[in-house]
Amino acid sequence: MANYDVIIIGSGPGGYVCAIRCAQLGLKVACVEGRDTLGGTCLNVGCIPSKALLHASHMLHEAEHNFAEMGLKGKSPSVDWKQMLAYKENTIGQNTSGIEFLFKKNKVDWLKGWGSIPEAGKVKVGDEVHEAKNIIIASGSEPASLPGVEVDEKVVVTSTGALELGKVPKKLVVIGAGVIGLELGSVYARLGAEVTVVEFLDVITPGMDAEVQKGFQKTLKKQGLTFIMGAAVQKTEATKTKAKVHYKLRKDDSDHVLDADVVLVATGRKPYTEGLGLDTLGVKMTDRGQIAVNGKWETNVPGIYAIGDVIEGPMLAHKAEDEGMAAAEQVAGKHGHVNYGVIPGVIYTHPEVANVGATEEMLKDQGRTYKVGKFSFMGNGRAKANFAADGFVKILADKETDRILGAHIIGPAAGDLIHEICVAMEFGASAEDLAMTCHAHPTYSEAVREAALACGDGPIHM
Ligand code: FAD
Ligand code: NAI
Repeated sequence: MANYDVIIIGSGPGGYVCAIRCAQLGLKVACVEGRDTLGGTCLNVGCIPSKALLHASHMLHEAEHNFAEMGLKGKSPSVDWKQMLAYKENTIGQNTSGIEFLFKKNKVDWLKGWGSIPEAGKVKVGDEVHEAKNIIIASGSEPASLPGVEVDEKVVVTSTGALELGKVPKKLVVIGAGVIGLELGSVYARLGAEVTVVEFLDVITPGMDAEVQKGFQKTLKKQGLTFIMGAAVQKTEATKTKAKVHYKLRKDDSDHVLDADVVLVATGRKPYTEGLGLDTLGVKMTDRGQIAVNGKWETNVPGIYAIGDVIEGPMLAHKAEDEGMAAAEQVAGKHGHVNYGVIPGVIYTHPEVANVGATEEMLKDQGRTYKVGKFSFMGNGRAKANFAADGFVKILADKETDRILGAHIIGPAAGDLIHEICVAMEFGASAEDLAMTCHAHPTYSEAVREAALACGDGPIHM
């Protein structure tokens, strides 16, 4: 048993970042993790492995589709799936051991095992009970289940199973056209699978800017993904090697069946709080099963905080990280802050899709007057040279003040380009501020400047 200033439960991007920041602020800190490796969903079965597979499969796509035109001829690469999985595992290993190194460097104790909170100020791990002035719950999330669909992680899989399939399936059915479905659907489509995405709504990636949704779906269709929209999945039936997906079309209630070698269920994630003992402690929950917190990430039980996927807000690694840093500052007596209005979202397909702030639909709902500055990557020299001219940058600015309210990008390196706009928004910049900033040529970033120019007197290259 040991006494700590802070014990954090969970070592995902919320928990490990919080632990390191607490240590940097001079607190004695431990982090409880039940997995064999640190880093949570993100490093072990989420962001990192999915990006490794997206990268490898994108390289294949480039070789198959663009190399010859650039004068790069010869035998095109074939897929060694086992080696691709080994590369993915190696990437995970480098990242998780990196966190272990950072814990040692910052003198964060890793309490190995599953933790529970028998009472405020105490954390039980195995048979040991540790004392802590503050407890921060960062226990993350798990895939949501779907009625009638039984996951075996072999034929009917969540994202976790989809990251380690025995082989590339001939037919993959993806339930849910959200972030996971489209990222992993893209991976397998590039590797040669016939991918059909079944979505309940009439649009993909709900909540995104409608123009981006349309452009993105069109691009994915060109890449070979098939979409069945407005379809409610009723059930799946699986053998050891095959599955059937039964769905009803919402427009006419008609019944349909799809055959699949693998079914990926990607219909959202839910907070994970099992075994923590929150009921007995009387920790207040939201009606969506999240831990309820106030603006300082405090629960209703004094000394117990919560951050990351287990609380309200977008389930994103960087949102969890920001809350981790801010909560650490709160417990150290400082004033941690997260600007929830400027949290970017990125889908790492090709082209990438990125957004920050308001969508046009939100501004219309709020009755706000706004202007739109849009620029297509067709007018960007670098994008054209790199076969990456599909897509656009769209900036939304207040009609009166010109202040940037949101941005939506579909195109090359969108996930990096968005940050220039995030910084501008943090500083309360106008579209003109961006437009007057010199941007190096030839870069994709010039498209951001041109979209900002389009909010004023107009872009140059369109
Ligand atoms: P988690 O990362 O879920 O970590 C929680 C940890 O707590 C886990 O390791 C768990 O084992 C541990 N734990 C839980 N309960 C206990 C207990 N009682 N005792 C001990 N340990 C416990 N987000 C992005 O921003 N970008 C992406 O590209 C991205 N890609 C993703 C791809 C996939 C396939 C998935 C599934 C998710 C992806 N996400 C992505 C989402 C991202 O992974 C999460 O938002 C993020 O991991 C949340 O961090 P967290 O710290 O709140 O929780
Ligand atoms: P999601 O919420 O992004 O998408 C789920 C989709 O499933 C929605 O389009 C929804 O309408 C649809 N759906 C729900 N029920 C359905 C049904 N019965 N039949 C058919 N479709 C149905 O959830 P997803 O993709 O599972 O991702 C979970 C979380 O992980 C997200 O919150 C996301 O933020 C995070 N994530 C982030 C990534 C990133 O930042 N690049 C990558 C992967 C995941």
